[in-house]
Amino acid sequence: PKQAEEILRSPICCIMGHVDAGKTKLLDFVRGTNVQEGEAGFITQQIGATYFPAENIRERTKELKADAKLKVPGLLVIDTSSHESFTNLRSRGSGLCDIAILVVDIMEGLKPQTIESLNLLKMRNTKFIVVLNKVDRLYGWKMCRNAPIVKALKQQSKDVQNQFNMKLIQIITQFKEQGFNTELYYKNKEMGEIFSIVPTSAVSGEGIPDLLLLLVQWTQKTMVEKLTFSNEVQVCFVLLSCLGTYLHHKEIKAAQGIKITAQGLEHAIAGTGLYVVGPDDDVEDVKEAAMEDMKSVMNRIDKTGEGVYVQASTLGSLEALLEFLKSPDVKIPVSGIGIGPVHKKDVMKASVMLEKKKEFATILAFDVKVTPEAHELSKELGVKIFIDDVIYHLFDQFKIYICNLKE
Ligand code: GTP
Ligand code: NA
Ligand code: MG
Repeated sequence: PKQAEEILRSPICCIMGHVDAGKTKLLDFVRGTNVQEGEAGFITQQIGATYFPAENIRERTKELKADAKLKVPGLLVIDTSSHESFTNLRSRGSGLCDIAILVVDIMEGLKPQTIESLNLLKMRNTKFIVVLNKVDRLYGWKMCRNAPIVKALKQQSKDVQNQFNMKLIQIITQFKEQGFNTELYYKNKEMGEIFSIVPTSAVSGEGIPDLLLLLVQWTQKTMVEKLTFSNEVQVCFVLLSCLGTYLHHKEIKAAQGIKITAQGLEHAIAGTGLYVVGPDDDVEDVKEAAMEDMKSVMNRIDKTGEGVYVQASTLGSLEALLEFLKSPDVKIPVSGIGIGPVHKKDVMKASVMLEKKKEFATILAFDVKVTPEAHELSKELGVKIFIDDVIYHLFDQFKIYICNLKE
């Protein structure tokens, strides 16, 4: 019935896969932006959300299918990072999505992070579409901007088509080894049993119409119940970075990335959940639930009380940094943590180490600013602050510092 169709919400789609497979570039291409080139070390370190309205999708898919029925208002796509220590961010990402896009570089095939993503998807029983990205890197590929993939493949030489088929067969075999049946989406007769593959280029746009249309058609066909509105806020996360300009909404219907204005929001921690206190809820219970995320992070602080001070922009990036510092070949103990810019109070806390272990009177500031006052105080007290937006660089700086201290 017509009425039922109108109340579908937008599917939430997570984009996953190994490092440099082209996740951010794909989103950039659809958005018409250039986020990927502005990223530190070209590594995505936070989860970012992008909304693609249905009109936009219709426009981009009309060559593929002019009269496509779009019942959902749009697609909300969430980009995640594939950095190895970012498992945590990723499990958050795949927890809130209806469907996932698993990006594989056609030249590289399945990688450890692809397999990790696959395991997460399997664990949560999340349906996904495989994107075989970077087809333009096949030797001799003839660019066909924004073309549906079948059309683009037809334009290629026999040699390019052979290269494509060989890579495809290899990758289908790799998926089989992981226990997944996959097939080119337009040959797939058993969607659901067999996972669909969409070849794309995030540079010239071949296959992008196919991907958008498949996402919409598949979700609206198989997930009607899941996509029907309920009045509850179900899964909601505080995200840090949102792109573009904001529109004013009096009311929103899921799924949306929105900016909320309210008192005290400067204390909200990016990466944690958003909770709604309903008329029958106990505020204290909700508060406790909200603090759960923080507790798991606090547990990672060294019990001896000796270690560096760590400051990051979001809960997710803090978790990633802690995870990294804990890994066997790094092993840097942490005595204190903070989220957001480095303030004087953080320097004060870090300075406690000056008497215990001088080399730990250090702040590792990951992707955050240091206030001028904090900077001033750190110089006065002799607290060292390292600032970088790449975890590995922070580690390198700290290592060099320790070596110099020992000399
Ligand atoms: P992380 O966020 O670091 O996990 O990587 P990512 O998967 O988001 O990859 P990203 O978008 O940063 O792309 C990695 C590199 O591959 C960049 O240099 C891109 O320009 C390049 N790239 C991405 N997609 C394509 C593609 O379809 N064709 C070609 N030729 N290059 C691509
Ligand atoms: Na990258
Ligand atoms: Mg990325």
